[in-house]
This record gives sequence, structure tokens and C-alpha cells, in this order.
Amino acid sequence: MASNEVVQRGLQDIVAVESHITFIDGKGGRLLYEGYDIRELADRSTFEEVAYLLWYGRLPTRSQLDDLRQRLVSLRPLPEPLAKLIDTLPTDSNPMDVLRTAVSALAMLEPSEAQPGPNSIGGALRLTAALPSMIGRFQRRRVGLAPLKDRPDLSHAENLLYQITGKEGTEIENRALDVALILHADHELNASTFAARVTASTLSDLYSAVTSAIGTLKGPLHGGANERAVELLLECGDLGRVEEVVTAKLARHERVMGFGHRVYKVEDPRATILRAWLHTVGESAGNLKSYDMLEKEREVVHREKGLYPNVDLYSGSVYALLGVPKDLFTPIFAVSRVTGWTAHVLEEYRDLRLIRPSALYVGPTDLTYVPIDQRGS
Ligand code: SDX
Repeated sequence: MASNEVVQRGLQDIVAVESHITFIDGKGGRLLYEGYDIRELADRSTFEEVAYLLWYGRLPTRSQLDDLRQRLVSLRPLPEPLAKLIDTLPTDSNPMDVLRTAVSALAMLEPSEAQPGPNSIGGALRLTAALPSMIGRFQRRRVGLAPLKDRPDLSHAENLLYQITGKEGTEIENRALDVALILHADHELNASTFAARVTASTLSDLYSAVTSAIGTLKGPLHGGANERAVELLLECGDLGRVEEVVTAKLARHERVMGFGHRVYKVEDPRATILRAWLHTVGESAGNLKSYDMLEKEREVVHREKGLYPNVDLYSGSVYALLGVPKDLFTPIFAVSRVTGWTAHVLEEYRDLRLIRPSALYVGPTDLTYVPIDQRGS
């Protein structure tokens, strides 16, 4: 690379691919999946319908949606060797590591689905259906309970909540989770989706691409922020300490998780929707504590830093009210985002270009090799 080239750290504002999947208007705070506004999808669609939209680029007919639902239900059960593998993992493992390991293992146990190319829609369906089963299996084991029998009568969101808590959610809880899954399904070229596309661009298989994405999503600056946003509320304890704790954190130049975004320069539209659902779920549970504390946090961070909430500020608090353990918040993000990751992988396969940027070399260029016995001690 010529030394006069400018390095765009974090590839900020670099347009790397053409995509028809998701449009983000960072200035206007709008998010569209295949042209449909996320607010309308959150209001009127379901996660299964949105998964179809992302994979096929159009809304399904009723029979197409029914067929997709049945295929996803039929693909929920894990092969016995994978179930046994999950049962051998340390119960204090990070659930994102469990997911990453289980996806890799599934590729070896079901090689036909893990090949590159258009037939990978089968792998997309399989992973979307199986991730909740992987999480459920691990969760039941680490609390010392027998695995739950699958419930084909439950929707994707209902089954996810049931697998995690062992109880059927209420109508409001199930709908809140379904909306959260819709909101997290895709977000253009975020870090984990970019990781998936880089992997796919080498013509590696779809399961390897999803494994790359899971490892990337785990990071606290990305999908891991939802867990830390709830940890901050626990650190505050109650509404009265939010101002003190958050201003002290900002004074130490620490990041307040759940705020700021690389693309949105106004509020993340998903945060707006989830904030309303946090109020709805909190009201039905008679517990608006986290809602009230986050409203205070939002006021403080905007006053001090001019930053707005992103999706991660509210998702963890909603999941906590649904009875989801904190370290399963990011795995739930993965349960949803696997549809976006696989949609992007399929798009990459259809118009493949090896993704390989350059680095600006800033080291020395004229050193002479010195034999080891002349290098001193
Ligand atoms: C997700 O990309 C996607 O689309 C991701 C995602 C998706 O759906 O896939 O939307 C999901 O990952 C949402 C983001 C979740 N992460 C967090 O909430 C972590 C906290 N947020 C930040 O770390 C940060 O806002 C990023 C990483 C999200 C974006 O950072 P940028 O674009 O690299 O901005 P920056 O780090 O250059 O910050 C600009 C300024 C800095 O101030 P100065 O040093 O210039 O004075 O804003 C400050 C930062 O310090 N800042 C924050 C802050 N975020 C930015 N200060 C305090 N708390 C924060 N959260």
C-alpha cells in the first residue's frame, strides 16, 4: 500500500458490498428489511414471516409461511451426538461459546447442509430451528433439569421462551419476544454479519460463516452490550442512584453500554419499539423499575454525551422480565440474527467477491538479518 493512503479505522463509512436485504437511514433513524419499515413489521409481522422475507426477498403467501413454520418445527430436534456433546460441556461455560461449539459440531454431524452455494438455504433453516434447542438443552442441564420435549404447537418465539424458562409465556411475554426477534433479525453490515460475509466470500461453508459471526457477536461492543446494560442497572440498584453511577462512569471516560451507534446519529428505531414493549411487559408484571431507571439513564447520557439509546439498552431488561438469565441475552440475539447472517451469506454466494482489504504498512523496510548468536542475551 502506498504510504499516502488514508486508513479508515474500523472501516467506518466504507461501503463494502451491494445488498438488497436491509437499509438503515442513520440520520433519519429508519430501518427497512427488503423495503418494509421495521415499525410496521414489529407491529404486524412475526419472526417466521420476517425470516422468510430476509431469505427469499419477499413476504410469503399463507401456504409458504405455513410450510416454513412446519419445516422449522421439524428441524428443531438435535442429533443425539450433539445433545450428548452439549451435556459434556462445563456448566459454567459462556452460552455463546456453547452455541459456537454446537454450530461447528452440527456441521460435522450433518455435512450435507454445510456446503457452500444456493443449497445452503437448508443450512439456514436448520440453524435457525436448532439454535433455540441448543440453548434450551444447555440451560436445562446447567440447572440440573431434564431436557424438555419439543413443543411443535409453539411458535419460534414461544418455543424459545419455553426452552429457556420451562414455562409457557403469557400472550404479552410471547409477543414481546417475537417482536424482539423481529427487531434483531438483521442490521446490514454490522460486525458479526460482516464476519459471516468475509467467511462466505472465501467459499467456505455456511456453518463456518455462522461460527465466525457468533464469535463476533459475543463482544461487549456488539451483541454483548445487552447483558452489560442490565449489569449497570444492577450496579445502580435503584432509580435514586442512576444519576450518580452513570455520571461517575462517564467521568471515568467509560462506555455506557446500550448507547451510541456507528450508524444511527439519532435514536435506534428498534430502541424506541423495545422501550414501549419494556413498559408493556413491566406494566403487566407490575414491575416498571427497569423502565424507570432506563428512562433516567437515557436522560443523563443524552445530557452528558448527546448519545441516544441503541437496541441493546432495552433488550436485556425485557428478557429479564421474561425470566431469561442474563447470560442468555446475547444468545437470544444470535437466535434472531442467524436469519440475517444466513441471508447475507446466501447473497454473498450469489454474487461472490473475495473480501480482502489492505493494511497501510508502517513498520521498517530495510533491516538486515542478524544470526541469533550475534543478537546478545
Ligand atoms: C449493536 O453495527 C450494528 O449495526 C450493531 C447492532 C446490530 O444490530 O448489529 O446495531 C447491534 O452492536 C449495537 C451497539 C451495542 N454496543 C454498545 O451499546 C456498546 C457501547 N457503544 C459504543 O461502544 C459505541 O457507541 C459503538 C461501538 C456502538 C459505536 O462506536 P463508534 O461509532 O466507533 O463511535 P466512537 O467509539 O468513535 O465514539 C464516538 C464518541 C467517543 O467520544 P470521544 O472519545 O470522541 O470523546 O462517542 C463516545 C466515545 O467515547 N461514545 C460513548 C459511547 N459510545 C460512544 N461514550 C460513552 N458511552 C457510550 N456508549
